[in-house]
Amino acid sequence: MSTANRVNKTKVTTHVLQEMKLKGEKIAMLTAYDFSMAKILDQADIDVILVGDSASNVMAGHKTTLPITLNDMIYHASSVMRAVNRPLVVVDLPFGTYQGNSKEALNSAIRIMKESGANAVKMEGGHEIVESIERIISAGIPVMGHLGLTPQSIHKFGTYVVRATQDDEAEQLKKDAMILQEAGCFSLILEKIPAKLAEEVTQSMTIPTIGIGAGGGVDGQVLVLHDMLGITQDFSPRFLRRYHNLKEEIMGAVQMYINDVKTKDFPNEREQY
Ligand code: KIV
Repeated sequence: MSTANRVNKTKVTTHVLQEMKLKGEKIAMLTAYDFSMAKILDQADIDVILVGDSASNVMAGHKTTLPITLNDMIYHASSVMRAVNRPLVVVDLPFGTYQGNSKEALNSAIRIMKESGANAVKMEGGHEIVESIERIISAGIPVMGHLGLTPQSIHKFGTYVVRATQDDEAEQLKKDAMILQEAGCFSLILEKIPAKLAEEVTQSMTIPTIGIGAGGGVDGQVLVLHDMLGITQDFSPRFLRRYHNLKEEIMGAVQMYINDVKTKDFPNEREQY
């Protein structure tokens, strides 16, 4: 497709996602953290790109999402924004930049929007962060909520096991979902919760839900790009479908290159001046 045609494609907005829910059209979302990958996702017509704080794991090699900074997220988000035309781009507010107070949360969200040009922010948590969410939305910044397994709270949970399997936690999640919708969130991520609960929440809400490990009864799906492409291989939860074994493909190409250099096959006559 020509560049002109691509630019003319309808930009996905929060309103478009709302219409997709009403029409029963599923929303496809993936993470991206850099220009080159984001460009491929845009050309493949992904609906939403999440500049997730999972960059802390897959890009920076940290064990958790906690160490990534606001400056790091702005760097990743700016790289993605330079690549895309069509998808809505949502950026995670990183740990420690919004839990303190609502003024700090607003300042963090403003920095992301102003310095990266992204379209929305995402925040993990329910009732405990609603004041910050309301303040950010009042400033005109769309917010995506995130309930269930919230990796920024890993030290509270202790493990990455499926959440809300017990009645009390499921009831709290349902209440929090409503609180986030009433606060004005345009969409909600449901991570690693029972499929039945995710479907119930989805049917009770007017805003679209996007699941990761939450079954098929949600309005859309999100996966971490490096996991679904098989670049990362040490993370294999049941919900992850691998669409490629890119680690093997890259290794094979790199080994061929090494061999060609060592055997003096590369460069050949045509590959020099
Ligand atoms: O950071 C991230 O990639 C996420 C998704 C797993 C939803 O929050």
